[in-house]
Amino acid sequence: MPAKPFFITTAIDYTNAPPHIGHAYEKVLADVITRWHRERGRPVFFLTGVDQHGQKVQQSAEKAGVAPAEFARDITARFKALWAKLAVDYDGWAETTDPRHIAAVQEVLQHLHDQGDLYKARHSGHYSVRQEQFLTDKERNEQGEFGPEWGEVVFIEEENWYFRLSKYRPWLAEHIATHPDFVYPAFRGNELANAVAKEAGDLCISRPKSRLGWGIELPFDRDYVTYVWFDALMNYATFAGYRAKDGSSLPDFAGLWPCDAHVIGKDILVPAHGIYWPIMLKASGVEAMPKLLVHGWWNLGGAKVSKSAGNAVDPDALADRYGAEALRYYLMRDIATGQDADFNEERLRARYHADLANDLGNLVNRTVSMGRRYRGGTLAAAPADKSEDAVALETLGTEAARRFDIAMDSYQVHIALEAAWELIAAANGFVESSAPWKLAKDPAQSARLDEVLAVLVEASRLAAALAHPVIPKSSDQLLAQLGFAGNLSVAWGVLAAGHQLGEPTPVFPRLDAESNA
Ligand code: ME8
Ligand code: MG
Repeated sequence: MPAKPFFITTAIDYTNAPPHIGHAYEKVLADVITRWHRERGRPVFFLTGVDQHGQKVQQSAEKAGVAPAEFARDITARFKALWAKLAVDYDGWAETTDPRHIAAVQEVLQHLHDQGDLYKARHSGHYSVRQEQFLTDKERNEQGEFGPEWGEVVFIEEENWYFRLSKYRPWLAEHIATHPDFVYPAFRGNELANAVAKEAGDLCISRPKSRLGWGIELPFDRDYVTYVWFDALMNYATFAGYRAKDGSSLPDFAGLWPCDAHVIGKDILVPAHGIYWPIMLKASGVEAMPKLLVHGWWNLGGAKVSKSAGNAVDPDALADRYGAEALRYYLMRDIATGQDADFNEERLRARYHADLANDLGNLVNRTVSMGRRYRGGTLAAAPADKSEDAVALETLGTEAARRFDIAMDSYQVHIALEAAWELIAAANGFVESSAPWKLAKDPAQSARLDEVLAVLVEASRLAAALAHPVIPKSSDQLLAQLGFAGNLSVAWGVLAAGHQLGEPTPVFPRLDAESNA
């Protein structure tokens, strides 16, 4: 049997509005983790997609005067176009209106119904339209009101179907207590454990069709559709092949499950992914549990990025202005995974110029230029008897690669990048201290010049290979210029005598004055 791939999934994005910077961050993070595993020779499967049902989508569609299906389809196209533009390269794509997903969700519902985990009851209470959930007194603020975060709150009385969450709560508490790696970072795991201890009651999993038509019909009660979260949370399993029919072209569930890293924002850990999801899986008979990777939020001037506040940052426009690679780099470099960060366009510009154009771009550009100028683009082998400074750079490079992988293994992409950029800074320092332009003037220094050029090409190649998961297209160009197209080795010592360099062309051109605005 082939080895189980590292299975990485992300939240599926709501199709009630176009993508914003938070969506871009999450998908790029997952893409970077995916590429890193793949580049180190480990099989990976990356699943992402869109959340198309529910009241939010129905409402947005009504406002736009189109059918929900059409609205969801149009927004889905915008998400897909953005992922193509940002080189977010997924293996599986989940759309919750997919008939394969609908059939599997209905099977799960029927199964839970048959085993007695669902019951029908009448309930009256306050309901948040925005959050699509019933509210209890717990949700009232100090003034005894439901705060603005709940949006429009209406009082409704209706009969619905409920899922016996409470029956599985002790099991979940036990699972969390005995699996410290269930949630990363650990402080989010503690938050979840506290919530599980407090939270009581069952989950309403239906909406009467009279109120909401845009959802998956309950197979045992045709007057209802499935609550959007119940539908959406099943996607990670259904698009991994859970309960798939023959010929569905979905993956083999047994060979892929469970998620090794399920990437979500901090807002959807409790209760959705930390409580509902594992209990839904357990009740359905899926024993192996996912691991959750909970990231923080990008804020704007300290405030939440939200469409309603009119401060949405459009990743599509940013990619046009600065390039997709610059945006990817910024989003990975200026946040610590698990923490929040403030989005700042000036910082994005500054990072592009300093880190990409000046540090990495210049290193490769002058290395290739000097190799061509002094050796006609064909390098000699470095002498066996290495100089002290060459050994020092090699040691630093090897160490940077090791630290890069350690940081990536715990999802700390910004620390991995720091390690790579230490190598870049050291290599740029080596150019200055070894001064190849002086060596070139002295025939007695010919062997030393060979060594300096070889060491610089090696360091540049290694730095570009390390940066590849984050800036794949730029890195490919840099590697081609260095004469190492397609070589992503992160070991020192790949260069052989007679190595041919390519053409030096700036990969990170200076941004024009127009985009200064
Ligand atoms: O929650 N910074 O969809 P969504 C970082 N459809 N991440 C952010 C963010 C920000 N400013 N804003 C949102 C949903 N996110 C549901 C999920 S899964 C079965 C259903 C993250 O479009 C958010 O935390 O509101 C979530 O992980 C993802 O973007 C999609 O958010
Ligand atoms: Mg949200």
